[in-house]
Amino acid sequence: MPDIYLCEVAENNKIAEGMFAVSVVSEDLALCARAGQFLHVKCGGERILRRPFGICNVRGGVLDFVFEVKGGGTNWLSGVKPGQTLDILGPLGNGFSFPEGRIIVVGGGLGSPPMLFAARSAKGGGVAILGFRESGRVILTKEFASVCEEVYLTTDDGSAGICGQVTGPLRELLDRGGFDAVLACGQLVMQRAVAELCSRYGVPCQVSLEERMGCGVGACLVCACATVAREGARSGKGSAHFDTSSANSDSGSAHFDTGSAYAATGNARSDAGSGAVQMSRVCLDGPVFDAREVVW
Ligand SMILES: Cc1cc2nc3c(=O)[nH]c(=O)nc-3n(C[C@H](O)[C@H](O)[C@H](O)COP(=O)(O)OP(=O)(O)OC[C@H]3O[C@@H](n4cnc5c(N)ncnc54)[C@H](O)[C@@H]3O)c2cc1C
Ligand code: FES
Repeated sequence: MPDIYLCEVAENNKIAEGMFAVSVVSEDLALCARAGQFLHVKCGGERILRRPFGICNVRGGVLDFVFEVKGGGTNWLSGVKPGQTLDILGPLGNGFSFPEGRIIVVGGGLGSPPMLFAARSAKGGGVAILGFRESGRVILTKEFASVCEEVYLTTDDGSAGICGQVTGPLRELLDRGGFDAVLACGQLVMQRAVAELCSRYGVPCQVSLEERMGCGVGACLVCACATVAREGARSGKGSAHFDTSSANSDSGSAHFDTGSAYAATGNARSDAGSGAVQMSRVCLDGPVFDAREVVW
């Protein structure tokens, strides 16, 4: 159950320039954490809003998360020391669903850490594709190698692994066949390209969205994003949705239209059907969504 846990910091290690891996101890939090869920971490006494981080790994009663220093909160977090206590609300959100068979996990940049937990949770084994801008930003390849059948590394500039994007090896693997799902986390543009490719090959795809967050528990609507209601899809079942018209009048600006949203992408255009566009909360209905639900 999501709750507030006061967790002792076991380790805080710099793993690349500006990137840190923090390990915290909490048997109870570790027991209920699922791959794809996130932790909402209080970053110093003066910051009211917590900061969200995907769960990278669970090892016994220890949870790891990895972050890049972006602003005040993550800068504060980079300085926490072993023995210090972190105030963590979690585990939050819906995690990935795992089919019985083999999966491909795709991580782009800071979207890679949560995919390690996903790879470890695969029921029938899996292959990882990790994409980074350049070699200095490559992280966690050894950890992925220890849990995956194969690991493909790509960098935009070719300074490590394959030169290019994650969609190169993904296409090869999908051609090869034998995978029951693709799970992805990273920049939106990357996830969209992954979703398009999976749609073409008819392989189910789940993506993990990222929006700026306030409360993290569905109350403030800061993290609202447009999704398409789909019969049987998880986020369509609950009461966590609010309709587009009220969302639009609250924000005073956004207008969503299913046709144009799907015209922007080849993905799922054919199976979007007549699903109505609605607003979903990334913190509560996601962060993991069936790729066919996402309005890219
Ligand atoms: C579900 C979820 C999981 C996440 N997991 C991770 C993770 O595993 N590792 C990691 O490094 N980061 C992750 N993030 C992003 C992370 O939460 C932000 O980088 C962090 O909150 C920035 O806090 P700050 O106080 O340092 O920066 P701020 O001062 O709040 O902002 C500094 C900069 O970071 C940008 N920023 C702030 N929040 C976000 C956000 N949610 N998404 C994108 N950019 C943002 C701002 O636009 C600004 O440019 C995740 C975000 C979400 C929503
Ligand atoms: S962050 Fe408040 S509703 Fe999602």
